[in-house]
Amino acid sequence: MKALMKFLPALLIFSTFNYILSAQDSMGPPPGGQPQVQQKSDLIIPISTKNISLVLRVNSRDGRVYQAYFGKKLDNTDNLAQMRDAGHLAYATFGTDNLFEPAIRATHNDGNPSLELKYADWMFSSPIGGGGEGFILNKIILKDPQYPFEVTICFKAYPEEDIIEQWVEIKHNEKKPLTIFNYASSMLHFDAEEYWLSQFHGDWAEEMRMQESELTAGIKILDSKLGTRAHMYQTPVFMLSLNGKSDENSGEVMAGTLGWSGNFRFLFEVDEKGSLRVISGINPFASEYTLEPGKVFKTPSMIFTYSATGKGQASRNLHRWAIKYGILDGTGSRLTLLNNWEATYFDFNEKKLTDILDNTKKMGLDLFLLDDGWFANKYPRNNDRAGLGDWQENKTKLPNGLGYLVKEADNKGVKFGIWIEPEMVNPKSELYENHPDWILKLPNRPENYFRNQLVLDLTNPEVQEFVYNVVDGMLTVNPGIAFIKWDCNRMMTNTYSVYLKDKQSHIYIDYVNSLYSVLERLRQKYPHLPVMLCSGGGGRVDYGALRYFTEFWASDNTDPLERIYIQWGYSYFFPAVAVCNHITSWGNQSLKFKTDVAMMGKMGYDIRVDELTEKELEFSQNAILNYKRLSDIIWHGDLYRLVSPYEENRAVLMYVNNAKDKAVLFGYVLNARYGETFNRVKLQGLDPARTYNIREINMSGEIRWGMGMSESGRSYTGDYLMKIGLTIGSATPLTSTVYEISE
Ligand code: DGJ
Repeated sequence: MKALMKFLPALLIFSTFNYILSAQDSMGPPPGGQPQVQQKSDLIIPISTKNISLVLRVNSRDGRVYQAYFGKKLDNTDNLAQMRDAGHLAYATFGTDNLFEPAIRATHNDGNPSLELKYADWMFSSPIGGGGEGFILNKIILKDPQYPFEVTICFKAYPEEDIIEQWVEIKHNEKKPLTIFNYASSMLHFDAEEYWLSQFHGDWAEEMRMQESELTAGIKILDSKLGTRAHMYQTPVFMLSLNGKSDENSGEVMAGTLGWSGNFRFLFEVDEKGSLRVISGINPFASEYTLEPGKVFKTPSMIFTYSATGKGQASRNLHRWAIKYGILDGTGSRLTLLNNWEATYFDFNEKKLTDILDNTKKMGLDLFLLDDGWFANKYPRNNDRAGLGDWQENKTKLPNGLGYLVKEADNKGVKFGIWIEPEMVNPKSELYENHPDWILKLPNRPENYFRNQLVLDLTNPEVQEFVYNVVDGMLTVNPGIAFIKWDCNRMMTNTYSVYLKDKQSHIYIDYVNSLYSVLERLRQKYPHLPVMLCSGGGGRVDYGALRYFTEFWASDNTDPLERIYIQWGYSYFFPAVAVCNHITSWGNQSLKFKTDVAMMGKMGYDIRVDELTEKELEFSQNAILNYKRLSDIIWHGDLYRLVSPYEENRAVLMYVNNAKDKAVLFGYVLNARYGETFNRVKLQGLDPARTYNIREINMSGEIRWGMGMSESGRSYTGDYLMKIGLTIGSATPLTSTVYEISE
């Protein structure tokens, strides 16, 4: 509701089509397509971007709304009204004649468990944002003919990025509250010969493992029931290839992701005719929701794209959208940093930290990020068993408080950032002792710990105030704090909210909405403070949260070999500007290899700088300078995945800036069997007519032979580079090459 209020004044024209109106009665054609009232009075509702059409049709015989088409842009939607009706309801209900999984299920206040939704109205806006930018909003209102119950299906179509964002708003005016059991954000239908699903699952330190399998008759579900650290086993993303597998540059693909930081569910159902319905949204598991009359239940956004030319384009669409609209300050720059988590863990004091500040400067990094362990006095945070929740500086470690460190950082010409985990509590803490009713735990069962901690009940407004004040209090006392890492290290178990009383099944949904409202409030006061989203690694990565965060911690696993796969996985859905990669002591690979891997995203360090040799220090200082020179291309350019580590003993990718005059290429040899040779790699995204100079950077004095010979210093046309390509790789496993490519 709030978003709508904010949004309405921005509308330039907002026209309404009533079902029975003829086209001439309208105030003008909807952007992205002509409104057409067909012979049989079927109303066609086109939702279009530059290259995609999603077309809905109101069937004049039954008044229901169907998906008529989704795919490559149609020049004209005239013929759709004559199509055989495939019965693909745009938002299928339960209780009447739908035989398959519904998008929505509700029981009315009189106990009637059925829902019927018929077309009532259609509203659309002219482009919001102007100048070919922005989005077009379409709202289609559906009503139950027997009950005052309505669903508004909302679409934001981003023409330039080929992205559609869909959510629904559910409300009723029945006499008493009613219960909704299912409340999907979107329902999409496909009719193809084959459906290939790529999913991205894992665990702590194993994020984003990609697996592709064919969907067969029946239901396949990707979901989470973890509550807080909801994406620990599965990130809310998928790619769906139609009519066979797709690759980077060919094949039909739909890519989707749910902007929701809690339990999600993607349900894929192949029916008896071989049609596929994909239902995406909040996981309805154990989450029936009581809806009061007049209240709006707004689902999170399902963000999706379609590409007729493979997965690479689908990713680029998502990246471009994310940079502009999905991530806080996505078009801006990011701070390089030195983190102390792996360098010190909980064992530090003021002197050690002051030395690290010096090292931050010495390396040429922008910021020092102080991690876990700086707080709590009665139960000092010297390990993960105590202190969480008591957000006062630990007097033994930091006798002069955070203020001293902020000042020291300033004196040394670097910035200061800090770690917090404000949603959680250790039982060994003053917070636990003082506010037992603020904690999610079952009254008559033992407490269940994960990393020795419990989750605070964020549905309680007092807890929201507490969390807000943890952050606001710290920033008010120390306005020089320039960065925050917001962690969340556990999922929900043995969950019970004292505050929610008889509405326990609201917990998973209300928790996330409460988190968003705290973040929203903080963002009003601190609109641009960079904040890293972290959840014991990548346990909470999604575009619902990223509206409030500038970046995310991809994984605690920083072994560069593992990291190549993890970062590769994220790259399908999230742009490099948001993916934090640190050079650490994990893995035995060379510093160069580690650096080159971290550089393909938002680079940082978490090492003991004092232990670097002179040569390593110099190498790192130069690499940081290189990174600063090239980071804009990496953060905001177009990504081309050239060789997949899932297919070869190599991974190669490149970023090209919008002007196509600069590119950066990263090549990694993961393994090299005896006698193995690697093919040349054809580059992409360049201008064939221009000539580019190839310069190898991050050299560490290595001598390479044969196929590993550097291409540095050569000049080639874009045509050559894209048709013949470069030699990339060597006979030595765990080596890497970075090429700066300039016109
Ligand atoms: C989990 C994070 O992923 C780590 O980077 C680190 O911040 C620890 N938490 C601190 O407890």
